[in-house]
Amino acid sequence: MFANTTKIATQKLLSSSTHAASSAGFHSSAASLKKVAVLGAAGGIGQPLAMLCKLSPNVTELSCYDVVNTPGVAADLSHIPTASKITGDLPASGTWPPSGNSGLENALTGCDLVIIPAGVPRKPGMTRDDLFNTNASIVQTLVEGCAKYCPDAVIGVISNPVNSTVPIAAEVMKKAGVYDKKKVVGVTTLDVCRANTFAGAAMGKDPKDVDVTVIGGHAGITILPLFSQVEGFTSAVDDSTLDALTVRTQFGGDEVVKAKAGTGSATLSMAYAGYLFAENVLKGLNGEETIQCAYVESDLTDAKYFASPCKFGPEGVSEVLPFGELSEYEKGWFDKMLPDLKKQIKKGEDFVNGN
Ligand code: NAD
Ligand code: LMR
Repeated sequence: MFANTTKIATQKLLSSSTHAASSAGFHSSAASLKKVAVLGAAGGIGQPLAMLCKLSPNVTELSCYDVVNTPGVAADLSHIPTASKITGDLPASGTWPPSGNSGLENALTGCDLVIIPAGVPRKPGMTRDDLFNTNASIVQTLVEGCAKYCPDAVIGVISNPVNSTVPIAAEVMKKAGVYDKKKVVGVTTLDVCRANTFAGAAMGKDPKDVDVTVIGGHAGITILPLFSQVEGFTSAVDDSTLDALTVRTQFGGDEVVKAKAGTGSATLSMAYAGYLFAENVLKGLNGEETIQCAYVESDLTDAKYFASPCKFGPEGVSEVLPFGELSEYEKGWFDKMLPDLKKQIKKGEDFVNGN
């Protein structure tokens, strides 16, 4: 049921960008005018993600914000011949009396979608939760800016640990009195990309023809790919391969962290995944309904936030969809994941609420 919508979305995205780049896309209608901000835009994910957004025909204004280097990133991207306007902001230097962070204000004012890959990445031997102490306050500060300058924007959180940073974002918006559960979203698209890649290889299929539903959260065993729902998978793949692919999807991030040997974690595949996510959100905002897996406030399980297929429309997440039947094998992982996920959610909420 979900496969077709998502597949169409992922296949068409890059070809429409190429078209936009060559025709310079000067045909935006009022409904499609969309401002996107990338916070952390000078980083390993931020730079290629901003480049892909610059290519998107769905983006009319792109603001790049970081604590370093965004004027250079924006100047560089501004030479790409697409119709979108681009700006690069840094935090403003101190003033007296304090006038607030006008760089962030510039970046966020008028935004429809804010994507946040700001924060530190893992090194080998670390868990995503080990990033909490640094990244929690970075996400908190940036989302406080969203609450003030673009309270109606959809916020896509990439910064880890996503299982906790999304509850942090939600609590910050609640404190400011502007929370809308349709608009605070954790980006788990890379888990779907990995599951599609690994399942496609195992089945001898082009991964673009595979669409795996991945549920739960975004850390280790909280990531659960539902391979049993992929047509033809069970007959093509034996039990030990199923187990290997499940674990590889759950720990795909570690595979990259290890290979990068201390220089960071996934950046290029994440930029691609972040771009797919953004395109599906923007199409939804423009009235073209899309479906993709995302980590959102949810009542599908005991965990307050949960990744499952979601419908995106003009308001952001218009419907959290059920994830269908689990196999016995998947049920085993599902039962194991929930206590971990609930603990990580509470940790994020407590951080903002001072518990
Ligand atoms: P990076 O270090 O290359 O880039 C991070 C950027 O954030 C830097 O440019 C830094 O200056 C900026 N930054 C730091 N504090 C900031 C602040 N207060 N305001 C604005 N910008 C700030 O790291 P990266 O490889 O791009 O990874 C970024 C984050 O994304 C990490 O937390 C990583 O774990 C996470 N990540 C998530 C996924 C996912 O699937 N959700 C995938 C890959 C990485
Ligand atoms: C990933 O899945 O690649 C990211 O969450 C980065 C990481 O730390 O593994």
